[in-house]
Amino acid sequence: MSIGGVPEPRPIAASAPSFDILTMSRPTPSVDPVTPVIGAEVRGVDLDHVTDADFRVIRDALMSRCVLFFRDQDISIASQKALGARFGELVAHPNDPGVDGHPEVMPIHADENSVRATGEQWHSDVSCDPRPPMGSILRMHTVPETGGDTLFSNMYAAYEALSERMRTLLDGLTAVHDGGPYYREVNRLIGRDDGGRAYPSAEHPVVRIHPATGRKALFVNQMFTQYIVGLPPAESGAILGFLFEHVGRPDFQCRFRWRPNSVAMWDNRCTQHHAIWDYWPATRSGYRVTIRGEAPA
Ligand code: SIN
Repeated sequence: MSIGGVPEPRPIAASAPSFDILTMSRPTPSVDPVTPVIGAEVRGVDLDHVTDADFRVIRDALMSRCVLFFRDQDISIASQKALGARFGELVAHPNDPGVDGHPEVMPIHADENSVRATGEQWHSDVSCDPRPPMGSILRMHTVPETGGDTLFSNMYAAYEALSERMRTLLDGLTAVHDGGPYYREVNRLIGRDDGGRAYPSAEHPVVRIHPATGRKALFVNQMFTQYIVGLPPAESGAILGFLFEHVGRPDFQCRFRWRPNSVAMWDNRCTQHHAIWDYWPATRSGYRVTIRGEAPA
């Protein structure tokens, strides 16, 4: 359509990064939702050089979309750490020594010699910690031709989809999360002697309130949550069993297909993720940095 013979300007596609009017030098990143409930692909940002304006877009998008994806980010470990550090203090993993000189950088690696891959069930990272991570940033440099996708599920949506009676039952309950059973099993599988060390464990609300958005999110996961406090084992087991199934409902999820130098950044307080190891004997390899969070409330 035209007005007075002048062609109407074409709307800028939602996916197109728009240029900063003042400087005309840097595009403003674009944020394209992946599904109605979770995930966004962010374009027009170089994670080696994140400006304050870029960071504001990234932080706001993370709060609204819960997990963000970036493509073609051949970034250094220093840049990945610097990006994580803008959100908060980086933390070392309780069962991984990190990479040389970087205890807070966790290698994520599986190849033909692997007997397991990291994160092969629904979980929120290190929820057994008294202050579980607020988020993680994972960059994969090597990926299989097909497979090795990661699933992400929205824990606000999981909570909100429960019946009012179930929400009322869960609100105010707490559950014990323990790293010991899972990490000891990992060490047994890979033949690592952990010297009988103690792993973190903590009691957290079953439903937590996100400190930035104020929304309620389900906070139990099959990797770390052992039992609900104050319920007989049979009741606790039945409720947790139901919730562990519930968080994997397809309508809460998105699925990310990695390419070399893709980055995923997730808010660990309102998501769970599940890495799929369907690519053996191929190699999948990258680095994760993890950002300290607060005690869930
Ligand atoms: C993890 O951090 O749990 C691993 C995720 C992945 O490998 O996709």
